[in-house]
Amino acid sequence: MKNTLQLQKMKHNSEKISMVTAYDYPSAKTAEAAGIDMILVGDSLGMVVLGYDSTIQVTVEDMIHHGKAVRRGAPDTFTVIDMPFMSYHISVEKALENAQLIMQHTNAQAIKVEGASVHTLQLIQHLTEAGVPVVGHLGLTPQSVHVLGGYRIQGKDKQTAEKLINDAKQLEQNGAVAVVLECVPDQLAKHISQGLSIPTIGIGAGKDCDGQVLVYHDIVQYGVDFKPSFVKVYSEISPIVTDALAQYHQEVKDRQYPDDTHSFKMDDQLVKELNL
Ligand code: KIV
Ligand code: NA
Repeated sequence: MKNTLQLQKMKHNSEKISMVTAYDYPSAKTAEAAGIDMILVGDSLGMVVLGYDSTIQVTVEDMIHHGKAVRRGAPDTFTVIDMPFMSYHISVEKALENAQLIMQHTNAQAIKVEGASVHTLQLIQHLTEAGVPVVGHLGLTPQSVHVLGGYRIQGKDKQTAEKLINDAKQLEQNGAVAVVLECVPDQLAKHISQGLSIPTIGIGAGKDCDGQVLVYHDIVQYGVDFKPSFVKVYSEISPIVTDALAQYHQEVKDRQYPDDTHSFKMDDQLVKELNL
């Protein structure tokens, strides 16, 4: 399993970091089998596997429930778990408590928080001091979708670009172990990556980030409704799964399934004795 020091070393050695989301036992198991460097139990699970229309309804309990399943499926992969909407904004005490619950119940290696407000920066210091590695998340921060006015690229004008550069520095200075950059222009992501000693993990942020993260279900196109333009599709499994289920459905109707090879038999002798 990678650790935070190794992740920094990978950046130092220009070795790219691969990260993918996982939300349950089978997705974690396949991610680990593929040799992925880091797993993110993203609060995107609210949209991807729970069918909500944003990440806002996701709770700490949801993150723990899914996080535990992921850890069982990928016990040897560095796993980051998202702190969900408002679970780290009410007070430092409440935030620390929620981080404690997530870390102790899931035995994950790090948590992730969105943004770089003064409040969040202080929290990162407290968490780091308490032994909780924190990954930051800048650019398109989906928990603020209603403030941002939609899922759109960030940092396209001078003011927001400069703010992003500064926010990333602040995250590093306050102890973050990595920063996710979501939907920012690649030139800006490159500049931010070069200015930090901690790794940047990009999603829709170009090739010059130190690592990349994608949503599992986007990579294999499993049950997704929408494909962001930055997603590269490596496999399309939805039609394969639907076909398999439709065949099964038809074979049940046609009495083709189950056949003798998929049934259990008892002794002929016993069948006679019991008059079956
Ligand atoms: O929840 C998530 O999947 C994320 C990634 C998109 C970075 O935060
Ligand atoms: Na997230």
